[in-house]
Amino acid sequence: MKFFIDTANIEEIREANSLKILDGVTTNPTLIAKTGRPFMEVVKEILAEIPDKPVSLEVASTDFEGMVREGEMLAELGSNVVIKIPMTVEGLKAVKHFEYKGIKTNVTLIFSPAQALLAMKAGASYISPFVGRLDDISHTGLDLIADIKTIRDNYDFDTEIIVASVRHPLHVIESAVIGADIATIPYKVIAQLAKHPLTDIGLERFLKDWENVPEKPF
Ligand code: E4P
Repeated sequence: MKFFIDTANIEEIREANSLKILDGVTTNPTLIAKTGRPFMEVVKEILAEIPDKPVSLEVASTDFEGMVREGEMLAELGSNVVIKIPMTVEGLKAVKHFEYKGIKTNVTLIFSPAQALLAMKAGASYISPFVGRLDDISHTGLDLIADIKTIRDNYDFDTEIIVASVRHPLHVIESAVIGADIATIPYKVIAQLAKHPLTDIGLERFLKDWENVPEKPF
């Protein structure tokens, strides 16, 4: 399972990258706005830190021409740039265009198997079903991941499934059980994945007992 980090915060990206388990980055307009910094400054820093793994950058237009114009501009910034496109009819047309041009796409804001199927048929390189936002409205987000995985495997689409809108470690673990290709995870949840209270208690006890070991070599 690949781990992407879902942030535009360069410190978080550097920290996660230093763990050597990072396979890519996803951003969106909200995450870029949160940095309070100029778009190009943020994007160039991310691409300098992650030059060889997929970095999803989202278009802001909603019409085909605008998405194509912005996506082509973003694709110039690096061969690892993936154009993030909203799941709309205009977006699907843009996905086809980028597929023809050999530019990778990530179709975002997917909330149903029907939307996922359309995006896969359009030739999306990645699709991003949002589990957390479905949970927020009392739908089980992970059920969507299982359905999409079945559909993808039934027809052998090349599209990779990115579990998005991840809120806690269970979203990651359940996605791994289902067999999702990728989870895009906020930094806080990556840190939570490493933690267990019994590990902390166990380590504290080992360190205390170590003090009683005679003639320690280190
Ligand atoms: C996905 O690519 C989105 O950036 C992200 O996962 C959305 O998450 P949220 O629902 O926490 O905003």
